[in-house]
Amino acid sequence: MTRTAQTQLSRLLFPSIAAILLSFPAAAAERGETPAKADDLRAITATPADIAEGRRVSETCARCHGANGISATKGIPHIAGQRPAYLYNKLRAYQTGERSDPVMGGAVKFLSEDALVKVAAYYSSLEPAQPLPSATKVPPARPDPVAAGKAAAAACGGCHGEDGVSKTPGMPSLAGLDPKYFVVAMKGYADGHRKNDMMKSLATPLTDADLNNLALYYGLQKPRRAETPAAGDPAAGKKAAADCAGCHGEQGVSGNPANPSIAGQDAEYFVAALKAYKDGSRSEGTMKNAVAKLDETAMKNLAAFYAAQQPQPPKVARPLSTAAWVQRCDRCHGVSGNSTDPRTPALAAQRADYLDKVLHAYQSGARKDSVMAAMSSTLTDADIAGLAAYYARQRARAFVYVAVPCK
Ligand code: HEC
Ligand code: HEC
Ligand code: HEC
Ligand code: HEC
Repeated sequence: MTRTAQTQLSRLLFPSIAAILLSFPAAAAERGETPAKADDLRAITATPADIAEGRRVSETCARCHGANGISATKGIPHIAGQRPAYLYNKLRAYQTGERSDPVMGGAVKFLSEDALVKVAAYYSSLEPAQPLPSATKVPPARPDPVAAGKAAAAACGGCHGEDGVSKTPGMPSLAGLDPKYFVVAMKGYADGHRKNDMMKSLATPLTDADLNNLALYYGLQKPRRAETPAAGDPAAGKKAAADCAGCHGEQGVSGNPANPSIAGQDAEYFVAALKAYKDGSRSEGTMKNAVAKLDETAMKNLAAFYAAQQPQPPKVARPLSTAAWVQRCDRCHGVSGNSTDPRTPALAAQRADYLDKVLHAYQSGARKDSVMAAMSSTLTDADIAGLAAYYARQRARAFVYVAVPCK
């Protein structure tokens, strides 16, 4: 955009914004909302003169963020047209270390409060980047992992029950196993941690993607008690089970994926597993102490007690398509990522590599934000890649202030 066009835009935009703003905190208070802190919104009350000064400050930013706030560098965001109060708040956050990034921390270290306000106002007044032609191709829809898991499970139903609930003594139920535990167990057979020739030959050729699909499918099947007999004395088993509750839960329903749920499990398999931990043919160490003192009768009693307990589904969410995620994200980030709240970042046409990087950073806690930590916690790598590509190909709209706070 030319300089004149830019100045025109600022003239058009900023005085009217200032007018809206003056009435905004009062209006918000009337509606019973907490009005935004005054300094949250300072950057959008800028005058054309402020913006011109912000442009001078921006000379130190251009080598990374591009001449017009449009980045040509992997991992560095476009900041042209980004929402003004968001820009200002994040510049402050880099300065105080609340958002830690060594590069940005250094870039804003010596800037005054006033300079931050103005440089934020300058970048938000610019025309945003538009999607690169290479980013606009819509990728083919991802195959549904649950359907893929179901198809792969056709090879398992003969032993483990069609819906993962065992009907054959000695065969474990798989329905309702936590997916993380499921994957660890399968890898145990493949690498010899768990000795079982049949399961080794079945597990070895499966890829990580196959395992995840199978784990997801079985995790989503409604668990029921195995339809197999139990020989032991459940009342005696109940007493002994006090030693197991700390890890497996009072009723054999564990909240922790590292410790499997054992409620409703086939009793014969249950005893075989305990023996395997005792004789070392399952070399996973956690169970070693728990089984050391148990004889065959004690094992059968425990098996009978747990077989009679009601299994519960683990916390497994059916994965969402990118389109379904986008509906959730757009509630705050605006339609197609064009935020209408000056404090919430726009995502439209942002660099995909940057979006991908920061979504992982929210997920790992490397970038701290309680809202985004919660929103990103269940995203898979594939979800993140899909969302990053989606927002990168949306048309970006320049900032126009509409007084709709998002909290
Ligand atoms: C040496 C390269 C470099 C320089 C110089 C630099 N930045 Fe950055 N900037 C980055 C990187 C890298 C990130 C991403 C950091 C992260 O992941 O939090 C970033 C992030 C930002 C963000 C956060 C964007 C968002 O969407 O959350 C803003 C705002 C920003 N920079 C503004 C500026 C301003 C204003 C200047 C000049 C005063 C500047 N930067 C100078 C590299 C730089
Ligand atoms: C021929 C029968 C048979 C087939 C087919 C079979 N399994 Fe198994 N599976 C077993 C037996 C027996 C065990 C118990 C092995 C042991 O004692 O560790 C087992 C154990 C498991 C376990 C461990 C369960 C737990 O609670 O720790 C998982 C997971 C599993 N199988 C998944 C599968 C999957 C997935 C398939 C299909 C790809 C499959 N199995 C096919 C017989 C079979
Ligand atoms: C310190 C925690 C801990 C205690 C105490 C404990 N367990 Fe476990 N248990 C585990 C873990 C972890 C595993 C998974 C090991 C693996 O990956 O093979 C496991 C696995 C099992 C399995 C195999 C489940 C399956 O699906 O294959 C059974 C059965 C079992 N435990 C029963 C018991 C019983 C009975 C007791 C009490 C006498 C007990 N455990 C005490 C942690 C514990
Ligand atoms: C409840 C409101 C809300 C929802 C829903 C939400 N976000 Fe956010 N998002 C925010 C806020 C607030 C920030 C600024 C956080 C910060 O200061 O780091 C943010 C920041 C981001 C950023 C960083 C942008 C930048 O320029 O650095 C990305 C990327 C992002 N969100 C993506 C998403 C995606 C993808 C979803 C849906 C899975 C989502 N958000 C859902 C409120 C939300």
